[in-house]
Amino acid sequence: MQNLKLKSLNENKIKENLNTKLLGKDLYFYESVTSTFDVSESLNLNHGTLIVAKQQTNGRGREKRQWASPFGGIYFSLILLAERENIGSYTAICALSVQKAIEKIMPCLIKWPNDIITKDGKKVCGILTKAKFINGSPEFINVGIGINANSSVSGDALPYAVSISDVTGEDVDENQLLADIVLKIENYLEKSDDSIREEFEKVCKTVGSHVRVIYPDEREIKGKCTKILGGFELELITDEGKTVSINSGEASVRGIYGENYV
Ligand code: BTN
Repeated sequence: MQNLKLKSLNENKIKENLNTKLLGKDLYFYESVTSTFDVSESLNLNHGTLIVAKQQTNGRGREKRQWASPFGGIYFSLILLAERENIGSYTAICALSVQKAIEKIMPCLIKWPNDIITKDGKKVCGILTKAKFINGSPEFINVGIGINANSSVSGDALPYAVSISDVTGEDVDENQLLADIVLKIENYLEKSDDSIREEFEKVCKTVGSHVRVIYPDEREIKGKCTKILGGFELELITDEGKTVSINSGEASVRGIYGENYV
């Protein structure tokens, strides 16, 4: 417990650990917020603004789901200038950065498009990206990242979730992990889409898996995922031999036997 307190999110320790040139220098730190997205709406945003909370009372997940955000997790929004041609690359950069940072602590993979999962398919991190538009064009990307670091998230309510500390049996240094992720994002932002896609494919569990794609109208297709395409879409060869591409947000991807994380 004593140790865990030393490793919990702390404003000064985040600053000490952060070796970035720019990202995260504009830091807003909170004990508890409704959602880091709510906080960002009340701020003057800049490229690199980082909003960190130790707890969220109304954390937002994908597909309008709630994101359980008890103390012990890492919850942050990072504001990035939308200057890349391919807006989909921001989510991929963030997923890859989180995967690389967590991989230093335990083995993990990406479930396309942006979940980080353990080797046996349990979710340790979720990412939700929102764009802020000015005159019809995206000006900023607000990347919301939630990591089950030292929080207890497993159990009947969240059967497919686990925390890093539950897997390793050790407390995670939350300040170091957060700082490492932000530095990795800064470094990947310098790279081309092609090199990001290449690295992404290597650690994406979905590529090479046989999956079920479920559309909102309940239409389903089954097939084998073959690669990540130019706009970070997933390519699939259906069981009928047709090649299709799936955009993130367009459909959900499950394992052939109903597994949530492939
Ligand atoms: C998902 O459903 O997988 C995405 C979860 C994203 C959670 C993060 S926590 C920080 C940011 N603020 C929120 O309310 N949600 C995102």
